[in-house]
Amino acid sequence: MNVLLMYEPTEGHFRRLQEAAPGARLNVATSEASARAWVEETEVVLGNRWFLQTLPSARRLRWMQSNSMGVDLILRQAGPRLRSVTLTCVRGIYEDELAEHALALLLGVTRGLRAALEDYQRRQWGRWSLTTLAGRRSLVLGWGTIGRAVGIRLRALGMHVQGVRRSVEGPPVRDADQFVIHGPETWRQELATTDVLLVTLPWTSATEGCVGRSELQSLPASAIVVNVGRGAVMDESALFELLHAGRLAGAGLDTVVDEPPAADADVWNVPRLLLTPHVGRSLETGSPRWEPVFEENLRRFWQGLPLLHVVDQQAGY
Ligand SMILES: NC(=O)c1ccc[n+]([C@@H]2O[C@H](COP(=O)([O-])OP(=O)(O)OC[C@H]3O[C@@H](n4cnc5c(N)ncnc54)[C@H](OP(=O)(O)O)[C@@H]3O)[C@@H](O)[C@H]2O)c1
Repeated sequence: MNVLLMYEPTEGHFRRLQEAAPGARLNVATSEASARAWVEETEVVLGNRWFLQTLPSARRLRWMQSNSMGVDLILRQAGPRLRSVTLTCVRGIYEDELAEHALALLLGVTRGLRAALEDYQRRQWGRWSLTTLAGRRSLVLGWGTIGRAVGIRLRALGMHVQGVRRSVEGPPVRDADQFVIHGPETWRQELATTDVLLVTLPWTSATEGCVGRSELQSLPASAIVVNVGRGAVMDESALFELLHAGRLAGAGLDTVVDEPPAADADVWNVPRLLLTPHVGRSLETGSPRWEPVFEENLRRFWQGLPLLHVVDQQAGY
């Protein structure tokens, strides 16, 4: 079996991959040209780099392990060739970081940090009335690894927390931790009483634009919207219009539709908006945290066991 690594592995990681699949041949691509040369004979690709460019030549490919949580770009750009390939993503390693980032955006909005920074730059001592989260209601749209990690923290701040999952059918259910979880049919009925809408959804055909103009207009004017999932899930123009019109209290975005936004994009001129450059999962230094997932999944593949974090290509995540 040929395994192609589309990244330069650390020494320890390479050794552990060899131990995971003792009879496999591990090849390391160091450029797009070398990836293209190796991919024709490979059954397994580990890592995203050069994957899309070389996929048309990957005649024998059976499994691809991505090093991201969101696989929207791979699914959108790979085309039909990917359908006969098992695709796995990484999960369960970045949610603490994402949840802290979502909270930073939320607290930054409620505690007026943008205005404070602007005043600081003008050497002004402005003082305003600020809001608190304790006792208020939040709806976490996307109750996966990130959403749940956010929800636990919001509850710790004294908020009332509800989540949304695709797999809940009919009326909302209570999960083991007593969180109320809605399905796609019922979450919209909560919007009128939602103080914080926190979006951690993947970008799929079902979620694209699902936080649209009417959903945003249904929120109270005192509500705050935070999105750390994907920009395409939300109607950005509607969000910006409502912020300009004072019909929402504020927003925090770690992700927008066009990244990076153009110099003259609307996003640079929106009041009460905190924007971070898609750093919820920040750049890693040292050994990447996905290494153990790759090693475990290669062991499983080698032994014919079910893989971790298999993407449902039909559902899109
Ligand atoms: N900002 C960043 O730096 C950053 C970093 C990593 C990831 N992300 C984004 O965050 C997303 C979520 O990551 P995750 O690890 O939490 O994913 P996950 O564990 O797969 O969770 C996704 C959640 O969304 C729900 N969902 C999917 N489609 C839905 C629909 N149509 N209606 C209602 N709920 C729906 C799923 O429902 P079920 O539970 O029923 O499946 C699940 O609860 C990723 O896909 C990626 O786009 C952003």
